[in-house]
Amino acid sequence: MTFKPAAWPRKLRSQTWFGGTSKDNIYHRGWMRNQGLPVDLFDGRPVIGILNTWSELTPCNAHLRDLAEKVKYGIYEAGGFPVEVPVFSTSESAFRPTAMMFRNLAAMAVEEAMRGQPMDGCVLLVGCDKTTPSLLMAAASTDLPSIVVTGGPMLNGNFRGERVGSGTHLWKFSEAVKAGEMTAAEFAEAEASMSRSPGSCNTMGTASTMASMAEALGMALSGNAAIPAVDSRRRVMAHMSGRRIVQMVKDDMKPSDILKKEAFENAIRTNGAIGGSTNAVIHLLAIAGRVGVDLTLDDWDRCGRDVPTIVNLMPSGKYLMEEFFYAGGLPVVIKRLGEAGLLHKDALTVSGETMWDQVKEVKNWNEDVILPTDKALTQSGGVAVLRGNLAPLGAVLKPSAATPALMVHRGRAVVFEDIDDYKARINDEALDIDETCVMVLKNCGPKGYPGMAEVGNMGLPPKVLRRGITDMVRISDARMSGTAYGTVVLHTSPEAAAGGPLAVVRSGDMIELDVPNRRLHLDIPETELAARLAAWTPTVKAPDGGYAWLHHAHVQGADTGADLDFLKGCRGNPVGKDSH
Ligand code: FES
Repeated sequence: MTFKPAAWPRKLRSQTWFGGTSKDNIYHRGWMRNQGLPVDLFDGRPVIGILNTWSELTPCNAHLRDLAEKVKYGIYEAGGFPVEVPVFSTSESAFRPTAMMFRNLAAMAVEEAMRGQPMDGCVLLVGCDKTTPSLLMAAASTDLPSIVVTGGPMLNGNFRGERVGSGTHLWKFSEAVKAGEMTAAEFAEAEASMSRSPGSCNTMGTASTMASMAEALGMALSGNAAIPAVDSRRRVMAHMSGRRIVQMVKDDMKPSDILKKEAFENAIRTNGAIGGSTNAVIHLLAIAGRVGVDLTLDDWDRCGRDVPTIVNLMPSGKYLMEEFFYAGGLPVVIKRLGEAGLLHKDALTVSGETMWDQVKEVKNWNEDVILPTDKALTQSGGVAVLRGNLAPLGAVLKPSAATPALMVHRGRAVVFEDIDDYKARINDEALDIDETCVMVLKNCGPKGYPGMAEVGNMGLPPKVLRRGITDMVRISDARMSGTAYGTVVLHTSPEAAAGGPLAVVRSGDMIELDVPNRRLHLDIPETELAARLAAWTPTVKAPDGGYAWLHHAHVQGADTGADLDFLKGCRGNPVGKDSH
């Protein structure tokens, strides 16, 4: 794609704060100088906001202040003026009821922080799952020049000689305890072996997926996604990104120049090739909605269908992000997509180069980590989008994490009305369930939980696990952690709390899942379904006030990205009135 750089020098938006000699200019500039800043920093050079999601309660991002220093070096070197700005940080591991409920709040807060303050461009310093999409959504809505720098993944976990992946082994060990194959004390001992270094989850979970999506969209420098957090090259990446954003501001290279439909299609195909998280579906739909690109669930199915999953990482495969980096990382995968005719090669990236120019010379250094196509984990690695009377607006399933024998399945529904009902009954030995049943969980969607928790991969009943069964068909309106696995139908839309057909499924109904034909069917007469829906009344109460109320009142369905309706679209970065 051709990009024509703007003329330089020119007056930047930050100069309406810092340039000139009016009372207001002196107020804005003078107060800044209490930090000991030389006056020539305010002379019209690009002011770069380093939007930092650092927080000690977001452990995956706890090292980002250190990385911000490296970004600053690069900005200074390139003739910019860096200002580090703390922004709302959404911790996946700590936030209740779920970090997802606050993705939109963070996006809204960051958008206003970008627009309302003297910034000409931004470095989005992110890592943990929701921090990446929330800041990308904000950047898309302000359309200020922006570049993503992720914190990088943790080093490999290791427990008793076994490679241990973040999240993936949490679920595995937890099931092993329930099955009586591991003691609770051993589980606790494994805890310290899982998180050995700073960084985000080391599996191809949502954090690694979203880092890969940022790179595949063209919003991060090539190679950014896989460099471990503690590797010296992560610091170099931060440094180089600092240099680059200054030139992007001079050129006026905005998110809307990069985030075209072709960029999203590149990202969707990349997600299939890496066996990425189903959460990417929701996040990319939301980002596209902010920048005005018409992206739908059907694009996910269309673009992902023919993409083999070639990255052999947990949860779909066996390695972790550290090995992915040593093998060459995401550029190798993108090159393979290009060679297979599955890449828009001329898509623009933040480097100013096309996607293809960036990756065409890279090499694969480990063919057991980045597999040859004939040894792919699955030949159809994208996200399968299912439809039918149980999901009129769609539902998703990740084939690479599912059991092939369950991809076509008919079973008796065992229904849990909400997560509390599930927790109360799942361990009951008298529960009428076996491995042929279909577990159904309601009221865990965007409005229902609230915030669409990652509970879709609900654990199996102990009596089934004890018989050595490791997977069953599960259906919900929830999400699933990118580190999780199983034959799990997610994001069923409309959600139960909004009166979707999921709300009226009853235990004993027969459900048909047919992934090859993309079908999800509740096998009851249509008249019966219509009667149940007509008699349905909401069971989830709207919160009384605060952000929870705003979220409940305005959140959209998972099928369109679960953004707040009034936040869709690009509002640009007009310089507001001065208040003084
Ligand atoms: Fe933060 Fe996984 S919990 S990246």
